[in-house]
Amino acid sequence: MGIHFGVDYYPEHWPRERWETDAKLMKEMGVQVVRMAEFSWFKMEPALGEFHFEWLEEAVALLDSYGIKTILGTPTAAPPAWIVRKNPEIQPIDREGRRRYFGGRHHDCQSNAVYRAHIRRFVTAFAKQFADNPGVIGWQIDNELGNSHGDLCMCSSCRQLYQKWLKRKYGTIEALNEAWGAAFWSQGYNDFDQIGTPLITAAGENPSAMLDWKCYCSDLVVNFAEWQADIIRENCPNHFITHNYMGFDNKVDYYDLGTLLDFVSNDIYPAGHWQKQPHQPENELAACHDVVRGYKKKPFWMMEQQAGMAGWEIMGRALEPGQMSAWAMQSVAHGADAVVFFRWRTCAMGTEQYWHGILGHSGRPGRTYYEAQKLTQTFAKYMDDFEGTMPDPEVAIVHSFRQNYAFDIQPNHPQLRYVEQLQKYYKALHGKKIPVDFVQDMDDLSKYKLVIAPLQYLMTPGLEQHYMDYVEGGGHLVLTMRTGVKDANNLCMTDRELPGRLGELCGIEVPEYDCLLETTGGVLYGKKEYAVEKWCDIIELKGANQIAEYSTGFYRQTPAITENPYGKGTAWYIGTEPGEELMEDIMTYMIGVCGIRTLGTAADGVEMMTRESDDKVWLFVINHTGDEQVYHLHGMYTMLEGEKEEQLLPYEVQLFVGNKFQK
Ligand code: GLA
Ligand code: ZN
Repeated sequence: MGIHFGVDYYPEHWPRERWETDAKLMKEMGVQVVRMAEFSWFKMEPALGEFHFEWLEEAVALLDSYGIKTILGTPTAAPPAWIVRKNPEIQPIDREGRRRYFGGRHHDCQSNAVYRAHIRRFVTAFAKQFADNPGVIGWQIDNELGNSHGDLCMCSSCRQLYQKWLKRKYGTIEALNEAWGAAFWSQGYNDFDQIGTPLITAAGENPSAMLDWKCYCSDLVVNFAEWQADIIRENCPNHFITHNYMGFDNKVDYYDLGTLLDFVSNDIYPAGHWQKQPHQPENELAACHDVVRGYKKKPFWMMEQQAGMAGWEIMGRALEPGQMSAWAMQSVAHGADAVVFFRWRTCAMGTEQYWHGILGHSGRPGRTYYEAQKLTQTFAKYMDDFEGTMPDPEVAIVHSFRQNYAFDIQPNHPQLRYVEQLQKYYKALHGKKIPVDFVQDMDDLSKYKLVIAPLQYLMTPGLEQHYMDYVEGGGHLVLTMRTGVKDANNLCMTDRELPGRLGELCGIEVPEYDCLLETTGGVLYGKKEYAVEKWCDIIELKGANQIAEYSTGFYRQTPAITENPYGKGTAWYIGTEPGEELMEDIMTYMIGVCGIRTLGTAADGVEMMTRESDDKVWLFVINHTGDEQVYHLHGMYTMLEGEKEEQLLPYEVQLFVGNKFQK
C-alpha cells in the first residue's frame, strides 16, 4: 500500500510519555506518514556543535514500529537564539531599513554567508544522522520559502549579491542603464557598486529595476534551496526531497524551484482567518491545486491540509462536519497522491496555540479525528490505483511569475491583480465542469484545444512567434487587454501599436485605451448588455470579426471582443475584463467552437474532476456545500463510493471509474 495520509507532528511539544498514545491513535486513524522537526533546531542543537538527535530518533523509531514513516524538515526557517546572539547580522533588513528581530520565525537572511555556514554544519549532521534510518523516507527543505520574506532582505550581503547578479546579467553598467531606462529622473549609474537593494524611496520606483529585484529574490531563494538539497543529497542520497509551496504565492518562481525537487508539495488553508469568508471559494482552491500540479507537471503532495479551525491572534470559522474531507479529496482529485493534515494535535503554546489539529488541546479523539479516520478508511485503497495519474485537460491557462511581478509593480488599474484575473477565467470553466491545466507560456501548447493567456504584458519576439505557431497549427488562443505592452525589461515598446506583432495574429490594432478608474463599463454581446471592469482597449479591426462591442464611453459601438481565423486556428482578443455574466457567456461560446468536453452539469459548489491513466478515468464528484445537491454526468462511469448516483449529501465525496474517453 502506498502512502496517502499523514499528519504534521510535533512530539517535542508533548511529554515523552504521550508519544505512544499518539502513535497508536495515528495508526488507528490510518496515518502512514508524519512530517517532523522543521522548527526544532534548538532542540536538536542547543549549543554550537552539540547535537541532540536522540529524541527525534526515538520518535521516528516509535512511529516506525507502528508502520508510520517520517519526513524530516530542515529547521532553517527559525534559527535559534544562540545563533542570532552570536551572529546578529543574519537577521534580515526590511524595506524601511529596519532589522527584523528574533522572537517569531523567518528572522533570517538567506544570502548571509555566516548563516549559510551554520546551516551547512547543522544540515550535514542532520542528514548524516538519518541517512540510514529505516523510518525516514524523505526531506522537506526549510518551510514555505517566501513566507514572511515579502519585503526582505535589504542587508549588505543581499546588496552585494544583487550587484553580482546584475553584473552577470548585463555585463556592463551601460547595458544596465539602458535596460532600466535610467535616463529618467537622473537614475544612471557609473558602476554596479552604486546600486542598492530597493529600500523605501522618497517617491516612486523604477519598474525595470523592481522587476530585476523580484527575479533576483526568486533566484536567491532557489539557490538557497538548491544548496540545501545538495547538502542532503551528498549525505543522504536515498531519500526524496520536497518543499511545501503556498499555491500561487509569488516570492519565488515555483517552476524554477520545482526543478531541484523530486516532487512538489503544497499547503492549503481554505478557512484561514485571512481568507474570503466563510472560506475561500472552491474554484479558487481548485485553481491552486491545478497550478501546483503544473509546477512540475506531476502529481504532488499536500504537506499541510487544513484539519481544524485556523487561528493566531484571531480565529477563522469552525469546519462543518464533512468539510475537511471534501477539501482533502479535492486535493486528491486535482493530483495529490498524499494528504498530510496540519496538525496532529492542537498545541498549547506559542503563536499557533489556536491553530487546531486533528486532536484538540485535550488530545482526546473527537469529531475531527473520527471524520479523518472514516476518510482514510474509505479512500486510501483507491488511491493506490490512481497514484501517479494526472488529469488530462483540453484547456490550459498560461501562468507566469514574471507577468505577475510586472503587475505587482504596476497594476495599471488599482484593483487589477494578475492571479485574480487568471482565476476569473478559471472560475467560468470550473463552473462548467471543465478541467484546466496551468502552463508556462513557452510550454508546448499543441495538446490543448483552447489556451487562455490573460495579460501577456511583457512580450518577447520568441513568445509572439510561439503563440502564432500554436494558432497557425490549429490552436484556439484567447489574448486579452494589456498584451504586448512591454519588453522583457519592463520598458514600453515603441515600434508599433499594441498589441505588437500579436495584432497580426488577432487581426486588430489597439491605438488607444481607457482605464476604468472608479467606474465600470458596458459591452453589447448578442442582444444583451453586460458589465465589464477595469479596462477598455480601444480596438481597430484589421481583418478580425467583432463579436462584442462597447456600450459605454466615447468608444461605444467599437469592438470589445474580436475573433480572427489564423492558419488552421482562431485567435480571440478580449479588450476588457468581462464581468461574471459576460465571462460565462463568452466562455460558453468559445468552448462550443473548440468542442470541449464537460464532465457533467451541476450547481456551483458541486465540483467534478478526473484523474486518468492510459485506459481508465477516475471521476470525483464533490459537494462543497452544506446542502443536498443533484447533478448529471456526461459519460459512463461505475460508482466506487457514494450513497446515491446523481444525488449528493452535504459535503459528500463520490468516486467513479470509467474507461478512458477516446479523443
Ligand atoms: C503555515 C506553516 C506552518 C503553520 C501553518 C499555520 O502553512 O507552514 O508552519 O505555521 O501555516 O499557521
Ligand atoms: Zn540579507
